[in-house]
Amino acid sequence: MIRADFVLRHAGQLATMQPTDADPLGRVTDGALAARQGRVVWIGPDRQLEREVELDGDQVEAAGACVLPGLVDAHTHPVFAGSRADEFLERATGASYRAQQADERGIARTVRATREADVATLLELAQPRANRFLANGTTTIEAKTGYGLDLDEEAKSFDVLLGLSRRTPLRIVPTFLGAHVVPSGVDRTAYVRMLTEEMLPAFELRAEYCDAWCDEPAFSAAETRAILTRAKTLGYQLRVHAAQLAPGEGPQIAAELGASSADHLEFVTPTQVKALAKAGTVAVLCPAANFTTQSPRPPIDAMRKAKLPMAIASDLNPGTSNSESLPFAMSLACVEWGMTAIEVLVGATVHAARSLNLEGLAGCLRVGSFADCILLDAETPEAIPYYLGVNRVLQTIVGGLVWHPS
Ligand code: NIG
Ligand code: FE
Repeated sequence: MIRADFVLRHAGQLATMQPTDADPLGRVTDGALAARQGRVVWIGPDRQLEREVELDGDQVEAAGACVLPGLVDAHTHPVFAGSRADEFLERATGASYRAQQADERGIARTVRATREADVATLLELAQPRANRFLANGTTTIEAKTGYGLDLDEEAKSFDVLLGLSRRTPLRIVPTFLGAHVVPSGVDRTAYVRMLTEEMLPAFELRAEYCDAWCDEPAFSAAETRAILTRAKTLGYQLRVHAAQLAPGEGPQIAAELGASSADHLEFVTPTQVKALAKAGTVAVLCPAANFTTQSPRPPIDAMRKAKLPMAIASDLNPGTSNSESLPFAMSLACVEWGMTAIEVLVGATVHAARSLNLEGLAGCLRVGSFADCILLDAETPEAIPYYLGVNRVLQTIVGGLVWHPS
């Protein structure tokens, strides 16, 4: 008998995300799952559970609901203060995101508000965001700093992420995004020097990833290369905000340096798509940011043909995507970009996990993986994108524990 401290029973369809020949979602009908100390120890048809598993602990009755692995959001900016609702509304009536980056608006405005807030205040703001992630089915996030933009202020953002991971069961993978933009009033060359000589060495042990935004309003190709090369030498793994607003070398740099992800990619070229696929980089796509900036769609078909793995992310941030909902992003990717239900489901689980080096642990359900799963009020997993902007998550379980909002 296998001993368990948690079981979930009677999942109408339990999507393991372990593909078989017959089913890319590897689902078990009337499925059950058992866990011990936060990891899955058994998974199979419910009728076999009692014969094979001995339970000493909690039991969740899914009563026919769909069960999926907890979603994995591979691109979020959850540490910030202030609102940019006015900018969002101006864009809706024709203003461009790029033009909004001038005159102390855009990212600079969030940087100012974030600097004015102390760690406790930022934590109070971040906590409900963590709750919304969990409520909407996300159990793992990649979380960027990037609204501090100097040594002390970026350190503050890391403190907030640490505080957050103590206060919530949400799994948080920290990324240093000191190279978000050059902060106002600072000389560009001096800032890149400060990044490579002071900030990157200082945060080496606090972040798993280093990210840089390579695009017109942010960093040039040469600057991005210098920053990310230094980060790589220091042992960071890499992510790149690349070709979001204009064509550029960002995706090429991501491929050259073996980045874990290249993100956004609205303006990626066919050659760059091939280079990314060859490098084993994951394309982390951000449909909600694409939607609110009214940008052209990324070349999904070229990515598909090149077998470039596509992840779907919320890109939660105050400027382009004020949403913690991956199901909403999945709906957009289907409707606006023509992605299939299977592609977005795999994108919000398996591919997102791969981009975070968590393949086999998060974003799938199998023996040894995290016991992170969600119960859904949907007829099939494929129906998730069909529910537009309403939350169909009934329960979120992280590490074999049922989550209740804190
Ligand atoms: O992913 N591209 C840069 N960063 C964010 C937007 C940040 C902001 O506008 O505050 C993004 O879209
Ligand atoms: Fe971003």
